[in-house]
Amino acid sequence: MDCKEQKKVMSLLEKEVHEGLTAFPKYLSSKFFYDQIGDALFQEIMELPEYYLTRAEYEIFNTHKTDIVHSFDTNNEGFDLIELGAGDGKKTKVLLQELIDQKRDFKYIPIDISENAVLGLEKNLSKEIPNVNVEGQIGEYFEVLDRLKEISDRKKVIMFLGSNIGNLLHPRAIEFLKKMRDAMHKNDLLFIGFDQKKHPQKVLDAYNDQSGVTAAFNKNVLTRINKELDANFDLNKFTHWETYNPETGTAKSYLVSLEKQTVDINGLSLEIHFEAWESIHTEISQKYDDTIVEWLTKESGLKSVKDFTDSKTQFKNYVIAKNK
Ligand code: AVI
Repeated sequence: MDCKEQKKVMSLLEKEVHEGLTAFPKYLSSKFFYDQIGDALFQEIMELPEYYLTRAEYEIFNTHKTDIVHSFDTNNEGFDLIELGAGDGKKTKVLLQELIDQKRDFKYIPIDISENAVLGLEKNLSKEIPNVNVEGQIGEYFEVLDRLKEISDRKKVIMFLGSNIGNLLHPRAIEFLKKMRDAMHKNDLLFIGFDQKKHPQKVLDAYNDQSGVTAAFNKNVLTRINKELDANFDLNKFTHWETYNPETGTAKSYLVSLEKQTVDINGLSLEIHFEAWESIHTEISQKYDDTIVEWLTKESGLKSVKDFTDSKTQFKNYVIAKNK
């Protein structure tokens, strides 16, 4: 990340921390989980026995890679494969290898807010699948979508995996999908992972694992504020709390203050008061079914043209096109 980019993210952190912690009820955005420590914790989460999402999507790619790749490039015309929020690219490598095996003409453009993730992925790919033409970019989704149109005039397939869309409430998800639609030319496609509704206990367990990694991940936002905004949050005075509403399909993460306390955020010249049991809402992880996905895409001027699922129908990847 260059200096300018770093400064923009910092001032976003300042602005949103100020807004969220002076609001009632308090909230912080889950996008601030992801620094070097947060990235590493998320890697650990993806390996947890309770966190089924990554394995389910991995299974989908392994089982359906031939058809998935075919659906990206039906006319064999070549394309740019753009991945938003690429992370470590473990699942994507399955598709990249298949694209290489099928001798498709493509360039892979992974985009992530974490410089760490993009550089790591580029390095790793040059070793593991050296034939892939990679050109990583660093940036926030919404900002990157604005410059997507200029990336190239080749056909684009935009991937948004891991149910990352689930971290947005429906109105924001629609806003995001509409922006995607605006960035797309007629034949461009989206390939998006949507975690499916399932037994509520399974969802709760995925976000409240026995080993406490998800709790540490959630609390990392406080560690970041301590470091980057010179604050004095005591992590032991907060507990991670997860809820899931099967009616709406929304899982929510909170940090709950275990006692009445005051925290200083020196970088913002701010004192934040917490009552005992007061919460900070930190993340939503939305779960979907076909009806919700159809509604979201229709609202955004898009339509699903194909979908792929795992053997237990835990997760689905939809191929989405412009509706006209
Ligand atoms: C990145 N995102 C889709 C993950 C999720 O499932 O909401 C982040 C996560 N939060 C807790 N565990 C994983």
